[in-house]
Amino acid sequence: MSATAPSSSHETARGSLACVGMGMTLGSHLTPLARDHIEQADVVFAALSDHLVELWLQRMNADVRSLQPYYAEGKSRLKTYREWVDLILTEVRAGKRVCAVFYGHPGIFAWSPHKAIEIARAEGFQAHMEPGISAEDCLYADVGIDPGRFGCQHFEASQLLFYEHRINPAGYVVLWQTALVGDWSLTRFETGPAYRQVLVDRLARDYPLDHEVIVYHGATLPIEQARIRKVKLRDLPEISLASEDTVVLPPALALKPDLAMRERLAELDKATGFA
Ligand SMILES: C[S@@+](CC[C@H](N)C(=O)[O-])C[C@H]1O[C@@H](n2cnc3c(N)ncnc32)[C@H](O)[C@@H]1O
Repeated sequence: MSATAPSSSHETARGSLACVGMGMTLGSHLTPLARDHIEQADVVFAALSDHLVELWLQRMNADVRSLQPYYAEGKSRLKTYREWVDLILTEVRAGKRVCAVFYGHPGIFAWSPHKAIEIARAEGFQAHMEPGISAEDCLYADVGIDPGRFGCQHFEASQLLFYEHRINPAGYVVLWQTALVGDWSLTRFETGPAYRQVLVDRLARDYPLDHEVIVYHGATLPIEQARIRKVKLRDLPEISLASEDTVVLPPALALKPDLAMRERLAELDKATGFA
């Protein structure tokens, strides 16, 4: 067990925080270490993708508090996430051993776990993160792509529009939260075809409009199958898109050799006796 494993006794009344990942699929992705943290916590906060997963969590600890009710139509998600951080830290400051459980990996496209840990540590509390199996991990397995083959960039879809990112179309590009692309307000749970058209127009700077993109929806229940759809880039605005869908752009260009670097390495090989 790692140095961050929970101890079995309450040696101290000082609060602590573990932010753990539940993984994506009910029943099969929870690590033994994350489970220990859940079982031994005084209070468990839960931000999960599915009510069934929350019911399963309730079997591991008697005090599970759902964070879902803090979402509301028209309310900024940032406000919700700040409220989550406050709720978590209130219990840590009260001397409780707190476990906050998030679906997937708690540190991937998730603001509150990082923030809660940062504040808890600044206030002198022990706080850490336990990784979980994320949508990204499932995507590599289900779609059958290796990020090491051509390189792989990940973007939050809105951020790709708000900032001048440099896309590398010779590698994979993964777009998260595409269903709500272009939402400045953080209040909407989907935007729609006109906003997705802006995304397509941005992507068209780097890809042909008939480039085939993959829309991926991983299974969250063991009875489900991953859903993998292939559509032309130009058709992305018109298809149905769920908030859980992740969009993958496979490479559109061949990798370009960097002749200057190859030359330098060849000289180095000669100089060090490897050539
Ligand atoms: C706020 S992020 C949370 C990611 C999560 N922390 C993780 O580790 O995967 C939400 C985004 O994750 C992706 N996502 C969530 N559930 C998914 C699923 N079942 N299949 C594919 N992607 C998913 C989508 O891009 C979605 O918009």
